[in-house]
Amino acid sequence: MHCTRKIHDDLIWVGADDRRLFCFEGVYGVPEGVSYNSYLLLDEKTVLFDTVDKAVYEVFFENVAYALGGRKLDYLLISHMEPDHAATIESLLLRYPEARILCNAKVKTMLGQFFLTDFSDKVDLVKEGDIVSVGRHQLTFVMAPMVHWPEVMMTYDLTDKTLFTADAFGTFGALNGRLFNDEADFFVENIDEARRYYTNIVGKYGPQVQAVLKKAAALDIATVCPLHGFVWRSHFGDFLEKYLLWSSYTPEEQSVMLAYASVYGHTENAANILATKLVERGVKVRMYDTSVTHASYIVSDAFRCSHLVFAATTYNAGVFVTMENLLHDLAAHNLQKRKVAIIENGSWAPTSGKVMRELIAPMKNIEFIADNITLKSALAAGQTDALDTLADAIAKEIGPKPVAAAPDAASAEAPAAAPEGTILPVDNGVFHKFSYGVEVLTTRVDGKDYGCIINTAGQVAAGDPKKITISCIKKNYTCDMVGKAGNFNISIITEDAPYALFQRFGFQSGRDVDKFADVSWTDRTANGIRYVPEYTNAVLSCEVIGMEDLDTQVLYIANVVEAKVLSKAPSCTYAYYHAHIKPKKNPAPEQKECWVCRVCGYVHEGPDMPDDFVCPLCKHGKEEFEHVVPVIKEKQKGYICTICGHFEPCDGELPADYTCPICKHTKEDFEPAEQ
Ligand code: FEO
Repeated sequence: MHCTRKIHDDLIWVGADDRRLFCFEGVYGVPEGVSYNSYLLLDEKTVLFDTVDKAVYEVFFENVAYALGGRKLDYLLISHMEPDHAATIESLLLRYPEARILCNAKVKTMLGQFFLTDFSDKVDLVKEGDIVSVGRHQLTFVMAPMVHWPEVMMTYDLTDKTLFTADAFGTFGALNGRLFNDEADFFVENIDEARRYYTNIVGKYGPQVQAVLKKAAALDIATVCPLHGFVWRSHFGDFLEKYLLWSSYTPEEQSVMLAYASVYGHTENAANILATKLVERGVKVRMYDTSVTHASYIVSDAFRCSHLVFAATTYNAGVFVTMENLLHDLAAHNLQKRKVAIIENGSWAPTSGKVMRELIAPMKNIEFIADNITLKSALAAGQTDALDTLADAIAKEIGPKPVAAAPDAASAEAPAAAPEGTILPVDNGVFHKFSYGVEVLTTRVDGKDYGCIINTAGQVAAGDPKKITISCIKKNYTCDMVGKAGNFNISIITEDAPYALFQRFGFQSGRDVDKFADVSWTDRTANGIRYVPEYTNAVLSCEVIGMEDLDTQVLYIANVVEAKVLSKAPSCTYAYYHAHIKPKKNPAPEQKECWVCRVCGYVHEGPDMPDDFVCPLCKHGKEEFEHVVPVIKEKQKGYICTICGHFEPCDGELPADYTCPICKHTKEDFEPAEQ
């Protein structure tokens, strides 16, 4: 029986969960399962975005048939040829022989390698920047080599601003009925498996991920559809922020990952004592026995933590096998920029420390923070001093910092009062310390609906009728309309609201567009004014009883004449919007002179490349590399709008009456910036 979910009216998830898979890619245990996502777009043409692993083919084909509803399949769009997404391509094309294949040239080559059937006469090739129209939707393509294979490409739906990201932004774990990120407590329940997925699957290819993130930063993204895990329709900036850290090998937290390999428990004992000393000094420690925990979990936490401690016994005149495997794995995943300490053990000829150093030293930007600590069979009396010294050194870098003593209030002298007429400084930052909610203000004049985002609604009187005030930027069309209408509604926005809601009501003018065009709801309160029933938890209908001209804003005082609670979702504050909903700027990776492989995207840093150079990823030679010499662009001074992100070039001060051309906020909401 089919099991599908709607993403948009014309975009259906037709994937499936697999909870019986023991090892993903034959390596990574997935105790919480995994999802294989596939999406069907129903436009004038029908487009299926990728297929699924053969383990879930049965429900997948039922899903596709159900979602098509008897229509033919026009296109199979292939983003990635790894069999967890491509194994059922041949079976799909047998069922839908009229379907054509949209893919790039590298995918076409791999189709010929994976399948005996020759599909070449069905293929329509696309390349970076091409646009394919399938009706209302226009699709364009972003090549993403080595995220995770060389043929990977992303597809951007220019119409609905949906980015199909292939493996990027996926996670381990079955969906379990949830499809959207906001249906799960992602950053509590799922982030560890998302990190383990990223670091182990594409962790090696940080520069390639950075390159594609840079391209994606130019796109206006409303929905993100990866091939595993959740569809992102809100708070994507929070996940993107993690990707920026992981792909640049920047630790997520100042903490210690302590991994040990111990045969009879003596090395483990030293590791436990060190962990205790670290915790006593206020350092957060994550600890693993390499013989018990699969390396994929330890690799994941090595990407998370700033400091790594490896403790291992000597074995076969080398290092114990599970530690050796782990260190090879960390090197293979390109881990870098970490501080490292080593504890070795050996009863007659300790060699594990030397071997561990040799395995770690080639990783980039590794700093050993102490000499190896050597145990002879077990921690000897007096050797705890060495562990204390190591714990002190780590705690000095990442432990809690002492708080400066407060001055003695009794002995402090009161400052002299400022002379009359002195103009005292007013720091605009103070006004960002208030805790505001955010609301959609709506009204109606001459049969036309208006709305804008405000963060100024508040109750000012509890009597009957209750009174609230709002203030509204004068240049906002809705401000004038409230004055004309004499009444308005306030819809209180909730934390799960997508950025698109703020874009709809905040970043365009009612003079130019109908902000209610294309919405699926038509709800009105008794006063006939529209309100926003989605991503809101309450609506209030108000009648204006007074107003005050505040120069840049108008303050309206109003009686509440109708009010109802719409949901239990928590209200979104202005601070929450900035921290979690407003997309984070993707800082452009620093440009250095380098050589970039045209086949797989591998980056060889530096101005020179030997003639016999062979790409370590795809094995192509120097002739396939492009020499990239960065163009140094001078940064432009200006101001950035903290509300909508608009950058206004300006070498001096913004004019006193300046307002943002996008969201109409005044210069107080701008910060100095360079771009
Ligand atoms: Fe989910 Fe690279 O395959």
